[in-house]
Amino acid sequence: MEKTFLMVKPDGVQRNLIGEIVQRFEKKGYQLVGAKLMHISKELAEEHYGEHKERPFFGELVSFITSGPVFAMVWQGDNVIKVAREMMGKTNPVDAAPGTIRGDYSVQVGMNIIHGSDSPESAEREVNLFFNESELVSYAKDI
Ligand code: CMP
Repeated sequence: MEKTFLMVKPDGVQRNLIGEIVQRFEKKGYQLVGAKLMHISKELAEEHYGEHKERPFFGELVSFITSGPVFAMVWQGDNVIKVAREMMGKTNPVDAAPGTIRGDYSVQVGMNIIHGSDSPESAEREVNLFFNESELVSYAKDI
């Protein structure tokens, strides 16, 4: 079954949006198989966002994501990588459609509430970067 890595960023945690975000994915029909509230170290942030290393905003990105706790999650289900990205909305909240998480709750690209893996390769990499196998659970979901 397909898995993706999603993370409520420090702005989403500060604004008490963890419950709202979890509820959206639960109601959609996806299964939560791993979750933790955590502080990201500078090293982990730099590795997670490694593909953006040369971007002018990299320093700002690392500094923001390490500024407070994040809520890291692994969700499972059919096409969850693509569908979760659609539910999150475009990266820049100004372009994100109403009804999406970013479209409903944010206006700044640097503080866009949530991160989600953008491909099967990044999903595998990011799930393994944030979670040990023992932190992921497996349970029947019949409906
Ligand atoms: P995310 O999906 O976490 O992946 C990379 C992040 O970089 C992205 O969300 C944005 O929050 C952030 N980002 C992209 N462009 C900018 C920018 N111009 N300034 C600050 N942050 C940015």
